[in-house]
Amino acid sequence: MRRIPVENLEPGMVLGRSLFSATNTLALAAGQKLDPRYIKLLGDYGYQWTYVEEDGFEEITPQDILSDTTRRLAENALHEGVDKLKHAVQMKAEAGQITSDLLSSEPDLFNIPNVDDMSHAVSSVVRDIIDRNIGLVDIFAEVASSTYIYRHAVNVAALAVLIGRQFGLTSRQLRELGLSAILHDFGKVCLGDDLMTRPKHELEGDDLERFQEHPTYGSILIHNTDPSLVAERLTVLHHHEWQNGGGYPQGLKGDNLPPSRSLERADDGIHRYAEIISIAESYDNLVHGNGEVPRPLDPADALGMIMSFAGKRFNQAVCHAFSQIVCLYPTGSMIQVQQSSAFGLEGYYAIVKEQGTTPAHPFLILYADPDGNRVRPKTLDFSNDSTLKLKLMV
Ligand SMILES: [Fe+2]
Ligand SMILES: [Fe+2]
Repeated sequence: MRRIPVENLEPGMVLGRSLFSATNTLALAAGQKLDPRYIKLLGDYGYQWTYVEEDGFEEITPQDILSDTTRRLAENALHEGVDKLKHAVQMKAEAGQITSDLLSSEPDLFNIPNVDDMSHAVSSVVRDIIDRNIGLVDIFAEVASSTYIYRHAVNVAALAVLIGRQFGLTSRQLRELGLSAILHDFGKVCLGDDLMTRPKHELEGDDLERFQEHPTYGSILIHNTDPSLVAERLTVLHHHEWQNGGGYPQGLKGDNLPPSRSLERADDGIHRYAEIISIAESYDNLVHGNGEVPRPLDPADALGMIMSFAGKRFNQAVCHAFSQIVCLYPTGSMIQVQQSSAFGLEGYYAIVKEQGTTPAHPFLILYADPDGNRVRPKTLDFSNDSTLKLKLMV
């Protein structure tokens, strides 16, 4: 199958993967022939990308980092927790604004009611990532249109666990890291719907100041839920801190050291898990056009932006590890060969068949000549081509 933007869909194309609605019910099943009504429906549901079947590309099967079951388990647990907390926040908000003092003073009201379900879902995330042994991060294989805050939290958990695995963290540490990631923006629920959902790049003045309270709110909610969740509490509190001290809410500094198993936190510095989560969450925001950028960036541009902050905003060692595992060309997408040691392939178009051992060298299937004329599909292996340059088309 091929990955294409929803705006490029045409009647008669056949859906390659099933699509689910925001409430996780089946919206359209794989194999469905699309007509104008269905195409409009996909746009209305908020899908930006989808997969379609195409002759010659049947063997292309994008693999999400997580199984559908795990993703739904995690999103549902989060959904339930958010709904309950929202209710408590709305009740109190009528009497005045939510503050840190208010949250701390009423631990029975302001907490994470189903944290056990979330821990259970996180164990599943960790198991999926270890069992499925996925080497490269392709979060693009996930096409569900579920509400962004849930999808973001689960993507960040998956990415964080993958990065944590690169540094040899233990299963217990990966579970702590995963739970911290799922909960990293939970404090935003206390900001109310308007501020929670408004794009971050539009915020200024009092709104921005209030938005920057969300790590503090999240850490109080975790403490209210279970004071023994120390790593999770600190990680959530620190997830917007920068290595150079330019972050918030405390302006802590980092030391750019790798997050080794034995050293979870630099003294008085940023928690090691938070250094992982800040990269995972920025990347997810950049490629989905949330947070600091108005439009989604290509994976390579998103990685480029992350790397430009290495050592200053993001932990240098974590950035380096991330650059080794992040996918630059999503499976199923179309690329153009710009440079290659193979004779005569410059300008040809190909579809990414599967990820290779390094991000820059995916396996490809030839699609069309430089003039756009279809050619016989043929698998290309550029694993050893150090001159290879590819351009992501759509
Ligand atoms: Fe955040
Ligand atoms: Fe986030």
